[in-house]
Amino acid sequence: MATLDAPLTLPSGLVLPHRIAKAPMTENLADADNQPTPALERLYRRWAAGAAGGLLVTGNLMVDRRFLERSRNVVADEHLDVARLARVREAAAGSPVIAQLNHPGRQTNRFVASRPVAPSAEAGAVKMMGLFAKPRALTDAEVEAIVAAFGAAARRCEEAGLDGVQVHAAHGYLLAQFLSPYVNRRTDRWGGDLAGRSRALVESVRAVRAATGDGFTVSVKLNSSDFRHGGFTEDDAEQVVRLLVEEGVDLIEISGGTYENPALFGEVEGLGGDDVAGAGSHKEAYFAGFARRVRESAGSVALMLTGGIRTREAMEALLADGGVDLIGLGRPLAIEPDLTAGLLAGETGRPLPRYTLPTVAGLAGESEWYETQIARMGRGLEPDPGLRAISAASRFVSGEAVRGIGGRRRRARLVTSAGRS
Ligand SMILES: Cc1cc2nc3c(=O)[nH]c(=O)nc-3n(C[C@H](O)[C@H](O)[C@H](O)COP(=O)(O)O)c2cc1C
Repeated sequence: MATLDAPLTLPSGLVLPHRIAKAPMTENLADADNQPTPALERLYRRWAAGAAGGLLVTGNLMVDRRFLERSRNVVADEHLDVARLARVREAAAGSPVIAQLNHPGRQTNRFVASRPVAPSAEAGAVKMMGLFAKPRALTDAEVEAIVAAFGAAARRCEEAGLDGVQVHAAHGYLLAQFLSPYVNRRTDRWGGDLAGRSRALVESVRAVRAATGDGFTVSVKLNSSDFRHGGFTEDDAEQVVRLLVEEGVDLIEISGGTYENPALFGEVEGLGGDDVAGAGSHKEAYFAGFARRVRESAGSVALMLTGGIRTREAMEALLADGGVDLIGLGRPLAIEPDLTAGLLAGETGRPLPRYTLPTVAGLAGESEWYETQIARMGRGLEPDPGLRAISAASRFVSGEAVRGIGGRRRRARLVTSAGRS
């Protein structure tokens, strides 16, 4: 039974001074060569200033520059300028920092990649406003190269002085696609039963461990479910938690959903910790029930819960009932970077203003609104809660189109070993 201000020591030995962590949020602030920038340094200096020494998980760094989640993600391949990443780390001095590593698989927008890759091709393109192209299936050798690329990226992060990495296996990106029987129809060792479907994740975690030293924190972000008929279920997820315990991971962050079923933002019917104290009339702690369910299976691995957590009362209830070790905050910290320090000083927290946008802009619009706030902090400005939603949404499409298509040839020239097969 922990309180918000109780320290937490991860199995790796990393000591967190309290129970609030910044959840990963894509920054889209790399330069045209997908290298870390002074804007990222400013952003992390700002987040560290309000974090009271708490854990900062970066937005996703990509392991293969041909397949990005956003056109200006940092890419942690062999071209990464480790010294520049080290400067971002130093800017966040006082807070532990772990970098999220990702491969988007079929969830890479068509501006960035006209032919995405996926475990198999049958499920087709991600259905979202025509923004995604039809993927092709990865070969066995390509899957192996991607697994190795996770390990090599983790080693570069360690060289840059980061405290650990988080392997992204949630939200419908490549490793989550492997886990999902809806997307993964392979019949080889990377598909089939859960042992096969989880192989890409387990092997990636092993590659990360093998490439990094003792005391380096290894985390995984995992969906409770992908909220799709025929997809990855809570039963599957509980089994994967057990596998990750066997692999000796230090921290599992729980989330849920995909671009097509955005439970991560609470946009799926029936979600929500209605029984979480303080939740009131709003949906708070979307995946609290799953965290409670897997607590025992997780053993001594720390559980971070992210998604819709807003009030101090709910945070305290989640920690007190023993199901959750760490509270993850995403969107609130994009508009209130000092919130963590405030909550620790006794502020009550509050629901975010209800976000409204014409449904045609949907999830991309919501993400982009917050991403625009993040970009403001990268310029040394404070967030602007009055920002018009529609201008943020249109910025997404025009920005990704110009930068995504514009950078294709440049990225292709620098293709990593993960792509040569
Ligand atoms: C702008 C933005 C970018 C995000 N990028 C990532 C990401 O790179 N990796 C990730 O795992 N989750 C990402 N997320 C999801 C958050 O980590 C989190 O799961 C989600 O926002 C729900 O938590 P919240 O209700 O506290 O915002 C992003 C969310 C937002 C708003």
